[in-house]
Amino acid sequence: MYETIQTRVEAGKVGVIALNRPKQLNALNDQLMDELGAALKAFDADDAIGCIIVTGSEKAFAAGADIAAMAKYDFAETYGRDYISRNWETMRSIRKPVIAAVAGFALGGGCEVAMMCDFIIAADNAKFGQPEIKIGIIPGAGGTQRLPRALGKSKAMDMVLTARMMDAAEAERSGLVSRVVPLDKLMEEALGAALVICSYGRLAVMAAKEAVNRSFESPLSDGVLYERRLFQALFATSDQKEGMDAFLAKRPAEFKGR
Ligand code: HXC
Repeated sequence: MYETIQTRVEAGKVGVIALNRPKQLNALNDQLMDELGAALKAFDADDAIGCIIVTGSEKAFAAGADIAAMAKYDFAETYGRDYISRNWETMRSIRKPVIAAVAGFALGGGCEVAMMCDFIIAADNAKFGQPEIKIGIIPGAGGTQRLPRALGKSKAMDMVLTARMMDAAEAERSGLVSRVVPLDKLMEEALGAALVICSYGRLAVMAAKEAVNRSFESPLSDGVLYERRLFQALFATSDQKEGMDAFLAKRPAEFKGR
């Protein structure tokens, strides 16, 4: 069904999307971004799926936007058809958690796609970078905005201005990634995290994601109020009753997603 990605379902509830243009180190062209967007939307709409993992290969998560395709573009092409907003913004509309499982290169648009996910689990061979400056452009899918939020200004400027790569250890130290694991344990770790998330109440999971994302969009007072309203709303769910009853009865909770 797809040509540039592969999809599968693990344990009946985790949607896995693997970027798959191995000869180009998963360089992100229009077709791949269209297919990624379609797969994300399909998993988001599937009631059986509780969490999504986006990954690449052992050598590359993605080495950036496809330079061979971009090299031909001019201003009319990029501005005129709003190059990248069409299919690169889909990730922002996904309401279920999306984990990036990153091995190898996550450069340019690849680093940006990883940062659009909710959190990043990295293999110990992962390398992150925004090397666009080397080819006469700047990041165009949120790199200059999400990197400073993740790393702080100094490291973000360093990355964007020098184009240096950051290894997995530095990325974890700096807060860009949440965990680093040996390469051969990457998918196991990501799947483990996804299954933990799937074990919780679906509505609380979606509200938690929405609330954390709100922190990047609003002043603290608005964000805190937004969080409080979602918190209060969750008391209207049966999963809140079940979670608290189960705790008090010292038994595992059985969430229904309602
Ligand atoms: C198209 C790419 C590519 C890319 C690698 N390839 N990256 N093709 N677009 N972004 C291709 C190479 O041309 C080569 O094809 C094959 O993949 C293997 O790459 P090599 O360079 O031979 O591998 P290696 O020596 O291991 O070096 C790996 C690398 C290097 C360090 C990742 O490929 C590299 O620097 N790539 C470009 C990284 C980059 O600049 N990314 C930012 C792009 S701009 P052949 O046919 O020769 O085998 C961007 C803007 C985003 O992302 C803005 C939003 C849209």
